[in-house]
Amino acid sequence: MNLRRIDDVLHVDDVPLTELARFAGTPVYVYSWKSILNRLKQFEESFSGIKHQTFFAVKANSNLAILRRLANCGCGFDVVSGGELERVLRAGGNPSSIVFSGVGKSEEELSFALKCDIGCINLESVSEYKNLVRTATTLNVRANVAIRTNPEVDTGTHPYIATALETSKFGVTTRDALDLAKRIVKDDVLNLDGIACHLGSQISDIAPYESALTTMLGLVERLDEVGISLSHLNIGGGFGIRYAQESELQLDSLAKELATHLAGRDLTLGLEPGRFLVGPSGLLLSTVHYTKIDEQEKYPNFAIVDAAMNDLLRPALYDAHHEIEVVETSESETRTWNVVGPICESGDFLGLDRKLALAEGDLLAIHDVGAYGFVLSSNYNSRTRCAEVLVDGSDVHIIRSRETMDDLLRLERFA
Ligand code: LLP
Repeated sequence: MNLRRIDDVLHVDDVPLTELARFAGTPVYVYSWKSILNRLKQFEESFSGIKHQTFFAVKANSNLAILRRLANCGCGFDVVSGGELERVLRAGGNPSSIVFSGVGKSEEELSFALKCDIGCINLESVSEYKNLVRTATTLNVRANVAIRTNPEVDTGTHPYIATALETSKFGVTTRDALDLAKRIVKDDVLNLDGIACHLGSQISDIAPYESALTTMLGLVERLDEVGISLSHLNIGGGFGIRYAQESELQLDSLAKELATHLAGRDLTLGLEPGRFLVGPSGLLLSTVHYTKIDEQEKYPNFAIVDAAMNDLLRPALYDAHHEIEVVETSESETRTWNVVGPICESGDFLGLDRKLALAEGDLLAIHDVGAYGFVLSSNYNSRTRCAEVLVDGSDVHIIRSRETMDDLLRLERFA
């Protein structure tokens, strides 16, 4: 993210976060468009030597303003629900550049995707295949499909975000994929265009990708032998970023390795980055409401802030680490703090054991929350969801208003 400290105040691009907080209130998600754009450029440059297509994983950040800007940059989109598909279409995404993954697409969602004539539906089971054939036949349309395979690779990430283990619910085994492919090519209503996988998220090594690609190319060869040729191979997303000590996935090395494996084959490589593009491009701005200091220095000191686990779930759900920084340098004594929210759960923390010089009223920036931040937020404890702001140079755009109590209660009825 384009972060700078000018006159002791943290700025995103040209905007002082102190002013932004006065303007938009806190808690608030702040994204830098320049940062998203730079990361997209870096991503595209890394893969420029390979025939590829990039599909932004909408689940990472589905704000319409961000989707529209990405669509204007020529990005395709990876969606996993009818809701995400609707968002991409409303944002102006090109239907032919949309892939639809997900293990439980309903008939309604499949029908919606077919009517929009999206680029590819990734099938994840034989049952889903049957459902799609039925739906496409009823609508009298033809669908482009890929088979999502499970190449059974352990990425070493948090178990909740590993998706290609032998025990994972996603995709079909490469053994079953061959039989499924044979069935698909016999169907008039389906066109088998490729194979796909997604290994997991926050992957920092290239080895799992190499291993998956080798397995998938083995399948491509077996399909070739029975006369089935494909035009794309989608390796999914998962490209890891640096939150703290870990190193960012080396995209250039990954691209080089993948290029070596793909050399001599006429396959377009599908890529579905989510976190890589938007994760480091967002921060959560929050105000310290109260401090509780243990003068005996026996127990934790608490900084109780106005953001909570309903705004940013990652620390509570995955034990995820996000760096926390005080926005305006002050004379406060440096202490070790547990930065916690107001929610009535001990799991409601944003960062533990953080050395910070802070005081009540200070603003904190919680870093690298542009992916899986706002999208995972909820109304738990009847808290209204916070606002989202997009900074572009010196321009500040509110791209989602703070929810009101009326928004929160609108759908409920006395009975
Ligand atoms: N493609 C598919 C089919 C996916 O399921 C995902 C993420 C992606 C692409 C994008 O993965 P990425 O490039 O963002 O790693 N909530 C978790 C992450 C869940 C990821 C789920 N699937 C977190 O906060 O870490």
